[in-house]
Amino acid sequence: MSATARKTAPMPDDIRAMKGGTPIVSLTAYTTPMAQMMDAHCDFVLVGDSVGMVLHGLPSTLGVTMDMMILHGRAVARGLAKSMMVVDMPFGSYEESPEQAFRNASRIMGETGAAAVKLEGGAHMEDTIAFLTARGVPVMAHIGLTPQSINTLGGYKVQGRGDAAKQLTEDAKAVTRAGAFSVVLEKVPEVLADAITAKITIPTIGIGASVGCDGQILVVDDMLGLFTAFKPKFVKRYARLGDDGEAAIAAYAADVRARKFPALEHVFSDKLPDTKPEGKQ
Ligand code: KIV
Repeated sequence: MSATARKTAPMPDDIRAMKGGTPIVSLTAYTTPMAQMMDAHCDFVLVGDSVGMVLHGLPSTLGVTMDMMILHGRAVARGLAKSMMVVDMPFGSYEESPEQAFRNASRIMGETGAAAVKLEGGAHMEDTIAFLTARGVPVMAHIGLTPQSINTLGGYKVQGRGDAAKQLTEDAKAVTRAGAFSVVLEKVPEVLADAITAKITIPTIGIGASVGCDGQILVVDDMLGLFTAFKPKFVKRYARLGDDGEAAIAAYAADVRARKFPALEHVFSDKLPDTKPEGKQ
């Protein structure tokens, strides 16, 4: 069913069942108004740990905390009715042991209302994903370029070229075996993304991967042109809200300095009652 026609949010099993069908649409969100804007159009919305870079000005996702993810998860949940919400597990909240992962995943789900969590890692996370899924935590896996590991990956490089393709394919199979309901493939060669999509039984969600993936995700601030510090090749800008916003702010500043704002329609008379009630415009 299309996202616009749907009355209620899908569950992780519904997303799993979309394998091979109409492509799954997803974006990141971190705030209520942004979540409201995309709710009717997305199948799931990810509260990504990219929040650290795009909203908090951090240099990477490594400084993102559980409290930040929970705060933004709660805000996004208030804006969603038709889209499923997935929340990222931040760096350091799940890698130590399956028990640590369960403790933090259950906190994220309990405190935000997320239907699922996402965590980074392939074969080495197989036991953890199996532990979580056996205990009621649906998991979206994330392999390829895993930004929480940039210090061991040597930066934001394409993953899975040459011999590394075999390991990445094994990673995809391992997370499938462990019970993940879908897997994000980030910054991997197109041909490898297509091969993995054909080999595994859960949906692949591409970002810098292939149009042949079962779905696509983008960071919303990237595609709206709000985050402009850098633009990865895989980002398509559908709007330039950053530029438009700055132009609007400059116009406001000029109006204030020229005493053109506020105008008559923005101020209150001491005599006549207001005829129009304030509210949604
Ligand atoms: O944190 C994030 O925004 C992500 C997406 C890029 C998949 O993990």
